[in-house]
Amino acid sequence: PILSLANAFSADDVRAWYERILKLDERVASARFVVEPKIDGLSVILHYRSGRFVQGATRGDGEQGEDVTANLRTIRSIPLHLAQAPVPDLLAVRGEVVMLRADFEALNHQQRARGEKLFVNPRNAAAGSLRQLDPRITAGRRLTFFAYGLGVAEAPLKLKNQSHVLDYINKNGFRVARERAVVRGAAGLLQYYHQIAGARAALPYDIDGVVYKVDSLAAQQQLGYVSRAPRFAIAHKFPAEEAT
Ligand code: IVH
Repeated sequence: PILSLANAFSADDVRAWYERILKLDERVASARFVVEPKIDGLSVILHYRSGRFVQGATRGDGEQGEDVTANLRTIRSIPLHLAQAPVPDLLAVRGEVVMLRADFEALNHQQRARGEKLFVNPRNAAAGSLRQLDPRITAGRRLTFFAYGLGVAEAPLKLKNQSHVLDYINKNGFRVARERAVVRGAAGLLQYYHQIAGARAALPYDIDGVVYKVDSLAAQQQLGYVSRAPRFAIAHKFPAEEAT
C-alpha cells in the first residue's frame, strides 16, 4: 500500500501530535525532524530495477494507481538510470509531479494564443498532462518531479535517517525541495511552518502546507503506523486559498 499522511490544521493539532509521539517514545524530546514543503502535485511512485527506471504509477487509492510509465519517461527530472552506489535490485522512489508556476503561465499563454481551453491551476495542468494517452503530448508539456522519499528497497540501503535518504535520492539525480530543513521540538516545527507560509508566494511551485517527519528511521519504525498513515509524520496544512 502507498500510504498517505494524517493532517494537522492548527498549531494545537501539531502540539497534540508531538505530545502523542513523545509519550510513545521519550527520545522524541531531543529528536530531529525533517521538514519540507507539502508540494501540491500528483503523487507518483517510480520503480527502478538494478538502477533502471522500469515502471511508474500514480498513487490512485493507495492500492491501485494508473500506469503512466511512458509519460513519466518524458519528464527530464526523472532519471532513467541511477548511478549512485549502492544500487538496490529494486528501489521505489516517491514524489510529486508538478507543473512549475512559470511553466503553467507559459502553457496557458500558448493555449490562449491557439484559442484553446485554459487550465485552472498548475495541479490540474499537471494532472491533465500526465494522464494523456499519447506520451508525445506529455513530452510537449513541461512537468517536473520532486522526490521526497523511498518505498521498498531490495537490498536495504542501510541509511540511518530521512535526511540521508533525501541526500541519497538527490545524488541519484532527483530534485528534492530546496526549502527542506532539520528542526527540533514543536516550536521548531511551528517556526518552519511560518517561515514557509511567508515564502509561499515566491516558491516556484504550489504547496498546500508543510510536512514534518521524525528524522531517525529507527525511531520511525518504532513509532509505526495507524491505519493508512504513519505516526512518525504529519502534514500541517495551510488554510485553503480563496480565489475569484
Ligand atoms: S510524505 C508515508 N512528503 O502529500 C508518507 N508527502 O497528504 C508519505 N506530499 O500522498 C508522504 N509533499 O503525495 C510526503 N514532502 C512531502 C510531500 C508529500 C507532498 C503528498 C504526497 C502524499 C500526500 C499526503
